[in-house]
Amino acid sequence: MSGRTASQVIRCKAAVAWEAGKPLVIEEVEVAPPQAMEVRVRILFTALCHSDVYFWEAKGQTPLFPRIFGHEAAGIVESVGEGVTDLKPGDHVLPLFTGECKECSHCKSEESNLCTLLRVNTDRGVMLNDGKSRFSIRGQPIHHFLGTSTFSEYTVIHAGCVAKINPNAPLDKVCVISCGVSTGLGATLNVAKPKKGSTVAIFGLGAIGLAAAEGARIAGASRIIGVDRNPMRFLEAKKFGVTEFVNPKDYEKPVQQVIAEMTDGGVDRSVECTGSVDAMISAFECVHDGWGVAVIVGLPSKDDIFKTHPMNLLHERTLKGTFFGNFKPRSGIPTVVERYMNKELEVEKFITHEVPFSEINKSFELMLKGEGIRCLIRMDA
Ligand SMILES: NC(=O)c1ccc[n+]([C@@H]2O[C@H](COP(=O)([O-])OP(=O)(O)OC[C@H]3O[C@@H](n4cnc5c(N)ncnc54)[C@H](O)[C@@H]3O)[C@@H](O)[C@H]2O)c1
Ligand SMILES: [Zn+2]
Ligand SMILES: [Zn+2]
Repeated sequence: MSGRTASQVIRCKAAVAWEAGKPLVIEEVEVAPPQAMEVRVRILFTALCHSDVYFWEAKGQTPLFPRIFGHEAAGIVESVGEGVTDLKPGDHVLPLFTGECKECSHCKSEESNLCTLLRVNTDRGVMLNDGKSRFSIRGQPIHHFLGTSTFSEYTVIHAGCVAKINPNAPLDKVCVISCGVSTGLGATLNVAKPKKGSTVAIFGLGAIGLAAAEGARIAGASRIIGVDRNPMRFLEAKKFGVTEFVNPKDYEKPVQQVIAEMTDGGVDRSVECTGSVDAMISAFECVHDGWGVAVIVGLPSKDDIFKTHPMNLLHERTLKGTFFGNFKPRSGIPTVVERYMNKELEVEKFITHEVPFSEINKSFELMLKGEGIRCLIRMDA
């Protein structure tokens, strides 16, 4: 399979964002062969995550265009570059927006997943090896996104940003594990760590928040309070074990006060998955004094400032943040796939819509309208 195309440029279709906020255009792109420590992957399925929309809108950060977005995906290795020993053509893989070199102090630490070399970098639009892009259209380079650029039939990824998974796992399902599901699940299980019987508040009931709720369910939480400004989210959230709902718009008082009143002083754990700094502050201030832990997951805007009275901390509340649910990308993500294979974790319920690649812009419309959870994009359709 690799023999014919390895070391050659591949021409294929990619959805190119030429300008911020404008519909993507399906173009024929040239994808260069993988260089040292890189792999070229045939993407079979991808999905849209809010982080793609956020950088595509480019309202709060440095715009970088033209660019190929996409980071939640599943595919098969087509060819590997020099020095790649643990991946080979035909391996089933999930691309990862943040990597693991296995050699730096972070990778060697049990406590961190923020690899020095391959840590998520939203501003870099080129490959590390030579500072250049592997994508071009008639000689014009097209920027990468998060080192993954999965809105392309073929993409080049650093070998340290690829998780090799169980070849029996259905790629059209486990695709959502490569970002959203793992981020939310890990935020609860690896960072918030609720005890059995505890009360957990989840802010934001998109894919990440619902995965965080799934984590709370797996941990045996007795109450899972979902907080969202979009009432449409509440219907879906029931399938994820969310037991109560709070829409901040329904109250005059701050939502942290509403939650404190519902829970006799505050929840044991909260996980924020909105990207709104106000929700981050509420998520922190709604945890119980003495033991409450709040975990921030959402991506804030560039100029946001988190403001709270220091007394809230002195009263023994803990505030944490997490990237990728604290999973070590290459070694941890295959274990999430195994949880799915063992039927401990359901991922089907996250995929509410499906579109062929040619209609990728529909998935943006759905997310902007707040409809559905994840929209699967089929590359071969
Ligand atoms: N830390 C990480 O590693 C990581 C990884 C992936 C995504 N993210 C971020 O996580 C966040 C969630 O991603 P998603 O794909 O689930 O997004 P999404 O848009 O599907 O869901 C976000 C939800 O938050 C709700 N919301 C927005 N503002 C709110 C507020 N003030 N109060 C209550 N609810 C509010 C929205 O109505 C929506 O339902 C995004 O900010 C995304 O960029 C972080
Ligand atoms: Zn994502
Ligand atoms: Zn590292």
